[in-house]
Amino acid sequence: MAKKTTRTSSTAQVTSDSDAPLTVPGLPTETGHAVADALQMRVHALNDLALTLKHAHWNVVGPHFIGVHEMLDPQIDGVRDMVDTLAERMSTLGVAPNGLAGALVAARSWDDYDLHRADTAAHLAALDLVYSGVIEDHRAAIEAVGDDPVTEDILIGQTADLEQFQWFVRAHLQGTSGALVTEGATAELSAARKASRKR
Ligand SMILES: [Fe+2]
Repeated sequence: MAKKTTRTSSTAQVTSDSDAPLTVPGLPTETGHAVADALQMRVHALNDLALTLKHAHWNVVGPHFIGVHEMLDPQIDGVRDMVDTLAERMSTLGVAPNGLAGALVAARSWDDYDLHRADTAAHLAALDLVYSGVIEDHRAAIEAVGDDPVTEDILIGQTADLEQFQWFVRAHLQGTSGALVTEGATAELSAARKASRKR
């Protein structure tokens, strides 16, 4: 990473984020680029999810610590693989992916995760909502890339994995009726409070 500095213009073009004049065979270039563009927010969302899961992995405390701490790492690895797959799909389709933190923060429509050091129930309750947001947007992206069944197939597979990860989280929050102890909570902090109270 470079130190912050004032950028100077240069006549020599050494970098470009413009679209390549091509895409995959069998798709019109415009279509391929539109599909790739639809993946950029998924790259940002999954990068943010991986960071958030690692943050929870470090800050979770209390009973069942080791179970939750260790459950999160394979999920983080899985989400990082998803980011790599989508970013490489963008490049394949002829659009330069942006994996930088500043671009993520500028583009995202959600706030940073609300919890720091907190008990296992609180983090699981908040992460359940995080997963819901990512999964809903992944499903919407499946619709958006419908002109390219190859990309659609990648997103469908990822959504199935994300839903399984959410089930691992949710199973900790369910009673024997199957209802979530956080039922009705729509914000991370209120879900966390509800879940902690039920302990
Ligand atoms: Fe670790």
